Amino acid sequence: MRKQIAAANWKMNLSYQEGEKLLDDILEAGIQLAPHQYTLFAVPFPYLIMSKSEVANEANFYVAAQNCHHKKSGAYTGEVSAEMLQSIGITYCVLGHSERREYNGETNAMLAEKVNSCLANGITPVFCCGEPLDIREAGTQNTFVAEQLRESLFHLSAEVIQTLIIAYEPIWAIGTGKTASTAQAQEMHHYLRAVIAEKYGTAVADEIPILYGGSVKAANAPELFASPDVDGGLVGGASLSAPEFIAIIRALK
Ligand code: 13P
Repeated sequence: MRKQIAAANWKMNLSYQEGEKLLDDILEAGIQLAPHQYTLFAVPFPYLIMSKSEVANEANFYVAAQNCHHKKSGAYTGEVSAEMLQSIGITYCVLGHSERREYNGETNAMLAEKVNSCLANGITPVFCCGEPLDIREAGTQNTFVAEQLRESLFHLSAEVIQTLIIAYEPIWAIGTGKTASTAQAQEMHHYLRAVIAEKYGTAVADEIPILYGGSVKAANAPELFASPDVDGGLVGGASLSAPEFIAIIRALK
């Protein structure tokens, strides 16, 4: 079965101590993940090492960075490279979150470089895509999101692209409490899989987990995750509450 993933994105929230307590509270639930189920915690850079040691003994629990720079090294004050992440044993990195695209001017071309940089350092990208509200209202969301994939990922070989994780996060559903309907999520995930299949074949497209993000919570996770092409979620607000995130992990197929 394709990997099913509950990924927490803490964004710029929680103190170190609050983060540590949150991880303790979640792990205390003693969740046993099936071999195809994974949980990721995308935490702020200063918490990576602590979080990694917290989950060290938990099967299929991993830590992710929320971003990395596209260059290998050099005079980029304040930035963190994929090589640095690799040197502390980080194996996942969220790339292209809409907040970074919007506030930090990340382009599809720049993200292609970040993807390469992560892969060169043994880091699996969790590649985010998704359309803003005006695009959804104009009904052109499919072309918009397919373009994001094509421009940032389609230079990869079939062997490589099938190791990635994709997260579809419609911008109008992020932090708004307005979740895409299960039908809207399933429709986009199915479409993206078809776009990937068109270039790489069905076997490759069927391998890639596509997570849904945007106001996922304990109450809507079971229905969203039950859709055949929705392989879990990338969760912001609700991942900051232990009971909420525990229930979201338990909703994985
Ligand atoms: P919310 O779950 O807070 O809507 O955030 C979604 C998100 O951006 C996860 O990356």
